[in-house]
Amino acid sequence: MTKIKAIAFSAYGSADVLRVTAVDPPVPGPGQVRIAVRSAGVNPIDFKIRRGDMAGYVPVEFPYVPGREASGVVEAVGDGVTGVQAGDTVFGPTVTGSYAEQALADADRLVVKPVSLSWEQAAALPVAAETAWRALELLDLLEGDTLLVHGAAGGVGTMAVQFARSRDIRVVGTASEFNHEYLRGLGALPVAYGEGLVNRVQEIAPEGVDAALDAVGKGDAVGVSVELTGDPERVVTIADAEGAERHQVRFSGGAGAADRTVPALNAALGLHEAGLLQMPIHRTYPLEEAAEAQRASEHGHLTGKIVLTVA
Ligand SMILES: NC(=O)c1ccc[n+]([C@@H]2O[C@H](COP(=O)([O-])OP(=O)(O)OC[C@H]3O[C@@H](n4cnc5c(N)ncnc54)[C@H](OP(=O)(O)O)[C@@H]3O)[C@@H](O)[C@H]2O)c1
Repeated sequence: MTKIKAIAFSAYGSADVLRVTAVDPPVPGPGQVRIAVRSAGVNPIDFKIRRGDMAGYVPVEFPYVPGREASGVVEAVGDGVTGVQAGDTVFGPTVTGSYAEQALADADRLVVKPVSLSWEQAAALPVAAETAWRALELLDLLEGDTLLVHGAAGGVGTMAVQFARSRDIRVVGTASEFNHEYLRGLGALPVAYGEGLVNRVQEIAPEGVDAALDAVGKGDAVGVSVELTGDPERVVTIADAEGAERHQVRFSGGAGAADRTVPALNAALGLHEAGLLQMPIHRTYPLEEAAEAQRASEHGHLTGKIVLTVA
């Protein structure tokens, strides 16, 4: 069998453990399709798994190919797949590592990529859009509410701000000074994170904060959120399980939750069709430079997403 090119690691460690590796092409099972990957999104969970931070939660078999989202062309379909066929251009979450020339995906979690959306932008959307959609659903906001988003300029934050703004929710977003103009462009009111955050948010939102999403997991974003909303029920974190426990707020990890990929991606496509979607590509790297891409992701001060170009 002809091998395909992938990026894999065979021991936990720094980005140096990532190697270009020849692996067997994945074979689609029932309900799955095989995609010829064009672009793969890079997410913080990729480096967290590689470092071994998630060893207790995410089982890994070595060699392990990272990556959970891709855009590409359907090449083969498994039993029982309807509505998707070879040749379709699609994007969505993958069930095998997307840092590879080919990856498997559940057919019913893919959406069709319009020509007007680039491969890179499409690959950047699935994780960010699904996570933002899920978190906003949990917070159950009303039109006119004020939402605080910590880490508003990152992948998840970028989508959370846009989904919230499209529902006429006012958004205060934390980011470093560098990203404030970007956040204004998304329709959010930017504030700098760090000491004095509570006061800065109160100044910019004197009517109060109705709910908060921690999409960063640093700097006691959870504690600050509880203080500002006055109610742990109005706070969700996707990045700080320990802070969630300490402050009795909800942690949303995705596993076990109802899958929100398709509605989230359709909502993102709706914004795109209206000419409103912004998902800046912080930087693209060729597949072979995945280690460099993960180092940049680990550095963490992104505007939008990092993606790998595969073909
Ligand atoms: N539970 C889930 O289902 C789920 C799903 C997806 C992601 N996540 C997690 O959520 C977090 C965010 O993911 P992501 O993909 O959006 O990450 P990302 O794209 O790497 O963005 C992180 C953002 O955080 C900002 N930032 C850094 N330090 C900050 C601080 N102290 N306060 C506020 N903002 C800060 C950075 O911008 P500046 O330059 O402005 O600092 C950057 O834009 C990660 O920990 C990830 O693992 C969880």
